[in-house]
Amino acid sequence: MDKLKLHTPDFAEANAAKLADLFPSCVTETQAADGSIKRAIDFDLLRQELSSDLVEGPQERYRLDWPGKREALALANAPVAKTLRPCKEESVDFETTRNLYIEGDNLDALKLLQETYLNQVKMIYIDPPYNTGKDFIYDDNFSMSREEYEERAGEVDETGNAMFDEEKWQQNSSASGRFHSEWLSMLYPRLKLSKNLLKGDGVIFISVDDNEVANLKRLCDEVFGGGGFLGLVPVVNNAKGRNDKGFQAQTHEYMVVYQKSDFTSRGVAMSDEKKSEYDCVDEDGNKFQWRDLRKRGGADTRRERPNLYYPIYVNPENGSVSLRSTIEHSVATYPVKSDGEDGRWRWKKETAEDRIDLLLARQKRDSSWGVSYKVFLGDDFLGERREKTKSAWVGKEFSTDSGTKTLNSLIPKVDGKQFTPKPVGQLLRICEIATDESDLILDFFSGTATTAHAVMQMNAEDGGNRRHILVQLPEPCDPKSQAFKSGYQSITDIGKERVRRAGVAIRKDLEAKLAKAKPGSDDHGAIERRLDSLDTGFRVLKIDSSNMAEVYYQPDQLTQDALALQVDNVKKGRKPEDLLFQVLLNWGVDLGLPITEETIEGKKVFFVDDNALAACFDTGLTEGFCKALAKREPLRAVFRDAGYASDATKINIEQIFKTLSPHTELKTL
Ligand SMILES: C[S@@+](CC[C@H](N)C(=O)[O-])C[C@H]1O[C@@H](n2cnc3c(N)ncnc32)[C@H](O)[C@@H]1O
Repeated sequence: MDKLKLHTPDFAEANAAKLADLFPSCVTETQAADGSIKRAIDFDLLRQELSSDLVEGPQERYRLDWPGKREALALANAPVAKTLRPCKEESVDFETTRNLYIEGDNLDALKLLQETYLNQVKMIYIDPPYNTGKDFIYDDNFSMSREEYEERAGEVDETGNAMFDEEKWQQNSSASGRFHSEWLSMLYPRLKLSKNLLKGDGVIFISVDDNEVANLKRLCDEVFGGGGFLGLVPVVNNAKGRNDKGFQAQTHEYMVVYQKSDFTSRGVAMSDEKKSEYDCVDEDGNKFQWRDLRKRGGADTRRERPNLYYPIYVNPENGSVSLRSTIEHSVATYPVKSDGEDGRWRWKKETAEDRIDLLLARQKRDSSWGVSYKVFLGDDFLGERREKTKSAWVGKEFSTDSGTKTLNSLIPKVDGKQFTPKPVGQLLRICEIATDESDLILDFFSGTATTAHAVMQMNAEDGGNRRHILVQLPEPCDPKSQAFKSGYQSITDIGKERVRRAGVAIRKDLEAKLAKAKPGSDDHGAIERRLDSLDTGFRVLKIDSSNMAEVYYQPDQLTQDALALQVDNVKKGRKPEDLLFQVLLNWGVDLGLPITEETIEGKKVFFVDDNALAACFDTGLTEGFCKALAKREPLRAVFRDAGYASDATKINIEQIFKTLSPHTELKTL
């Protein structure tokens, strides 16, 4: 019986635990009066979490620290006045696709996506700059090119030309603490913001190499909590070994893997070799294999698990077993290790009782009996049995070469060294173990868009509807590069073209498979369905300043232009589509919902996801228009503040909607 607790709960401890749940990064360790180490809350950090202003705090503590950390945290919490402007011309299937390609700095993008995609993303993959001394110079939210750095360093000779000492720059970079600090300051706010987007059972994979792996692990411990750590996976991307200057011939890099709270790996399909081990067939035609019921490996003795040591009674005529001794089941058998020590079974007695039909005893050479259980290849829930991924990833499909070759097969003459495309095989593997067929996937350092390629391919293979959101900075291509000479001015140009071409190639492939399949067969039907549901489109959204003008003039300074802005607060040059996406963002409506346009009473109206939202940004809206729209009963409706034909319409519109469509939420821009 439970004892009465003769004291009130330790609220301080309980509160600390709640805070730790909400803010794992604020948990630290401190020394108690008796010298023991105990858990504590870092109040400086907590205060920082709750405010966008900086707070100072000097105490010693166990944590990862670097100059600039507080500023980086403040940066994560600081709001941005930006928006996403759609670019139809660069998109594919703009109206219907559910995929997004966001062009701009990922810090802004992550902030803009916070409300809409809070707890929505199942898997994040990122491949940030590795901080090799050449790939990254920190400038708050920009990866600076060498030329810019030259300019900033301001080293000019007497004729005004920049003097740049490559060697000095690199040495200085990689040897100084600043080098790591800047990288950490770049990644920290981005990781924090991305964690909010992950679902509870979501997971993040981060590619990294020797340069920052130790720092990244510590940083993720802080952001995701130490319990979020799932693995540090070496990925062999160059089996021969790189012929670099370093201490050894490098063959691998890493992926650091963290969960938000309760991720379960789906594992991977079993290899043919493993499947062939299921070499028995039961009377219903199901394949299975026998496994020994005696535990082998760690904790396999009676001493360690006394409950799992019990007799199983064997019928020597046919090998059937029972947990009770009967006339037929007369031979008691126990788990015994080969050295004679008492072992233990794998299953508890109750489990063995429940699954007695799966057990069979077989006589060994020394005439003692051993007990085996059946393991079927097919599984009720997962279909065919799957297996765990190994802790190191080795295989041709993970090689750097294969990444470059795939990219070049779609876009020739794009230099692998400059763009470091990841192998599609690596991303396919991640998608396989981490995503279900309708999951949302995010890559906010997307480079040449390998992630989008893999997501589309995976969907083509299993008929899934996974969606992707990619973010990429329009970082200029090196003017001397082949890519630049072939017309690609920035990495986003390459990324978008990659998604276009990969989409076409994947669709073609599937069509070729359909042509080969026998019409009317199951295969034919399945491929047809996959082709129908395959989404190879993407909506391009570009990060820009807000659509709304900020008007701070004093009345006596008002120019004619500024006066016009006072009446209509929308910046010049912004299109209705721009306003629509701002509204979607502000309202937290999925940016990947289908959009249609209709003309009602001569005005252009956008309908998002049928009638989830109706938006009209035209001017001269009349009561007749409002009535016609209200009859469509949209869930939300939005107009421009200066859009009404008269003040009377502006006043009456709420009444019109109240009467005709009382559930519509109304807003003006
Ligand atoms: C190592 S590459 C990613 C390669 C990618 N995994 C692929 O398969 O092509 C890192 C990319 O992150 C981009 N990047 C760096 N800082 C960024 C930022 N602040 N916002 C968005 N993208 C950024 C760089 O332009 C670069 O293309």
